[in-house]
Amino acid sequence: MSTQKMPLIEVKNLKKHFNVGKGQILKAVDDVSFEIYPGETFGLVGESGCGKSTLGRTLIRLYKETAGTVNFEGHPIHGSMSKSEMKKLSRSIQMIFQDPYASLNQRMTVTDIIAEGIDAHGLAKNRKEREEMVYELLETVGLNRNHAQRFPHEFSGGQRQRIGIARALALNPRFIIADEPISALDVSIQAQVVNLMKKLQQELGLTYLFIAHDLSMVKHISDRIGVMYLGGMVELTESDELFDNPLHPYTQSLLSAIPIPDPKLERSRERQVLQGDLPSPMNPPSGCRFRTRCPFATEICAAEVPEWQEVEKGHWVACHLHKTDKASAI
Ligand SMILES: Nc1ncnc2c1ncn2[C@@H]1O[C@H](COP(=O)(O)OP(=O)(O)OP(=O)(O)O)[C@@H](O)[C@H]1O
Ligand SMILES: [Mg+2]
Repeated sequence: MSTQKMPLIEVKNLKKHFNVGKGQILKAVDDVSFEIYPGETFGLVGESGCGKSTLGRTLIRLYKETAGTVNFEGHPIHGSMSKSEMKKLSRSIQMIFQDPYASLNQRMTVTDIIAEGIDAHGLAKNRKEREEMVYELLETVGLNRNHAQRFPHEFSGGQRQRIGIARALALNPRFIIADEPISALDVSIQAQVVNLMKKLQQELGLTYLFIAHDLSMVKHISDRIGVMYLGGMVELTESDELFDNPLHPYTQSLLSAIPIPDPKLERSRERQVLQGDLPSPMNPPSGCRFRTRCPFATEICAAEVPEWQEVEKGHWVACHLHKTDKASAI
């Protein structure tokens, strides 16, 4: 993967705040900037409630952004768009959801579920063509035409996720946001779905934003990984680099929570256990969001928000410990 290419999607200072009543604002996504390049898999991790789904949903315009910009293939996709621009965009970006039980309409046949987008965009000339499109999609995801007239409850979890993938592929998207697509599946099925997604990526030239709770799940599929904490991106770099050289204390603690298969190594290593509870996103700490749980926090961490900086080539971090002096770097 070359980072010299033009980004497929470019996110700048994106914020999504929810007004939760009584004058309270919940900063679910707060000033996040990153880029995703064509053909790559960008893994997005962080513990529950840190804003991963909100970020994904804001990118696909399920939520209106509070501030910031998003460019897709060089064009702004937030703010006001014409109906035809919206329609074009809805074909290019699709989403796969965590829970294949909840995200499929139980009263619709597989054909009607998969063909929803085809119908909305008028892509099939007649019933026969519509049916053929659905059969082809079923085969692409490892199901077959005998499944077409059945209902979601007749399938296993892994098969349902395949239906969700077929539905996402129906409009030939370029970019797929997969929000914890394997978390609800049995471990034995997870690898099958990941392998299918990898195969489709190669065959169809797809770009993925792959959202997951933990780093071990995204390590092997992601080219680059972004780590979120309490609405902010704290570190972003290539997958191997993140595992070999994690800079942010939060990333380090996530990595130290992954068990090592070798029991000897596992016993001898030092674990960095996080202190305290996750603060509320309605009342985040001043300065660095992570400072209340950071073993290395100093005064400056409470006083100043750490800048989001590229401290080594392609390695971004927001942490006072790793500040680069811009003036001396030039
Ligand atoms: N529609 C909404 N209205 C108000 N608050 C919301 C809404 N959606 C999400 N939130 C809040 O925003 C924060 C981020 O939630 P989000 O679902 O994006 O986290 P997540 O990282 O996807 O978590 P998980 O790993 O559990 O899926 C949480 O505090 C959540 O309660
Ligand atoms: Mg989520």
